[in-house]
Amino acid sequence: MPGDPNPEPAAVRPRRVEAALSLRAATPADAPAVHALYEHNPQYFEIISIPVPSPDEVGIELATAQRDERRVIELVIVSSLGEAAVQEAALDQRLRDRASAGWVVGYLDYKLDYPEEGDATVNLLLVHRAARERGLGRAVVHELEARLSGRVRRLLASIYGRNLAARRFWEGLGYRYAIDARPVVEWYGKALP
Ligand SMILES: CC(C)(COP(=O)(O)OP(=O)(O)OC[C@H]1O[C@@H](n2cnc3c(N)ncnc32)[C@H](O)[C@@H]1OP(=O)(O)O)[C@@H](O)C(=O)NCCC(=O)NCCS
Repeated sequence: MPGDPNPEPAAVRPRRVEAALSLRAATPADAPAVHALYEHNPQYFEIISIPVPSPDEVGIELATAQRDERRVIELVIVSSLGEAAVQEAALDQRLRDRASAGWVVGYLDYKLDYPEEGDATVNLLLVHRAARERGLGRAVVHELEARLSGRVRRLLASIYGRNLAARRFWEGLGYRYAIDARPVVEWYGKALP
């Protein structure tokens, strides 16, 4: 990482590097990319015990979100993952961002003033399995915290099903158990400055 006072050897560096990413609002025209992202990551839907949404269902979800002033759905875009093998093996052309030359490698869905006024809740942060453990998820959360700081008192993440990896991810970012709605969903939260 530029400026890192203790750079790691090149061979182990990728796990720690936060790739440069951008976020952009998703519209119903992005349904093919979002559906491709879901298809590449069926394990998440197994955990929450629902089938992978169809392209039509994804389109309806994106249109519904677009009409909801409090709901935000964004795509996580990277210009390159830096590893040709990852792109070849796991990213298909549907994941080419239609608005840039980048790749759609993640999905962020959150709602403002939910569950209480002054809160915001991440319904889903999903990073393509081929792009995980490179710091992308952390970078998205940091970006969201910075964006909402001063406007939102508490940022929450809702974790559906028995999703130990998600708990560890959010706990590692300083989020603590906040609302119990088990077995369906658990909420982890953090106060924002
Ligand atoms: C959870 C998820 C978003 C993490 O994305 P990611 O890009 O791999 O996460 P990062 O690389 O930024 O990891 C940040 C930290 O979380 C930790 N972490 C990530 N995945 C982990 C896992 N499966 N188990 C334990 N810790 C994990 C990392 O080790 C890292 O910790 P470190 O800073 O101490 O090294 C991704 O695994 C995912 O999309 N899962 C499926 C969808 C999901 O369950 N979303 C959560 C519900 S909202």
